[in-house]
Amino acid sequence: MRQPLIAGNWKMNGSKAETVELLNGIKAGIGEVTASEVAVCPPFPYLYLAEDMLKGTAIRYGSQDCSREESGAFTGQVSAAMLQDFGCTYAILGHSERRLFNAETDAIIARKYAVVVSHGLTPILCVGETLEEREQGKTEEVVARHLDAVLESAGAEALAKGVIAYEPVWAIGTGVTATPEQAQEVHAFLRERIAKKSAEVAAGVRILYGGSMKPGNALELMAQADIDGGLIGGAALKAADFLAICKAGD
Ligand code: G3P
Repeated sequence: MRQPLIAGNWKMNGSKAETVELLNGIKAGIGEVTASEVAVCPPFPYLYLAEDMLKGTAIRYGSQDCSREESGAFTGQVSAAMLQDFGCTYAILGHSERRLFNAETDAIIARKYAVVVSHGLTPILCVGETLEEREQGKTEEVVARHLDAVLESAGAEALAKGVIAYEPVWAIGTGVTATPEQAQEVHAFLRERIAKKSAEVAAGVRILYGGSMKPGNALELMAQADIDGGLIGGAALKAADFLAICKAGD
């Protein structure tokens, strides 16, 4: 009942020419992907290319972040209204790289979540533990904290308007993927935690896995009961790899 979502997080990669090439490659192969919803999240300056080139296709696109402010004197920031203006469907929020390099706190991310939802965009809320936290047995505590920041402030109804991405920090860009069992365990934990507020929302919300997901492991990961797709980094930068992951949902 939950349609898988495969979303590419391109991070700070590419040029105008490379973006055009990648979008063309995905467009050319997407016809073979039937079951999954597919989305790409290019850097802000290239969103206009996604808007232009993906018109008339089923491929959606979104941003990698969003300001928590509505508008005004916030140099360098991009608002939810602007993302909406460019036809974005999604906004990735709370990625561990933003938590780490931009000092984003749970409170900031919760505020962004509310703003994004109020503009009719779909947030992709990232949660996940570091290696140290996992080794200390704190995985559930950490992901619960990341989830609760939104669940407690915005409520289960707002969560139903978003997507969650479990991204263990130790698996991001490292080539080390969580085993399907490790990932499933955390996904099930997150879903159960949401179910305590609303069984209906828990049953419907999509929880993606992110962290070195590639064509070779996508099928096994997505076969898990609570894994509803992927948030793909490195492998989303090659059309063939990205498309192969998209096909894993078929
Ligand atoms: O948001 C996606 C991400 O952090 C995973 O990156 O390169 O490990 O697929 P990667």
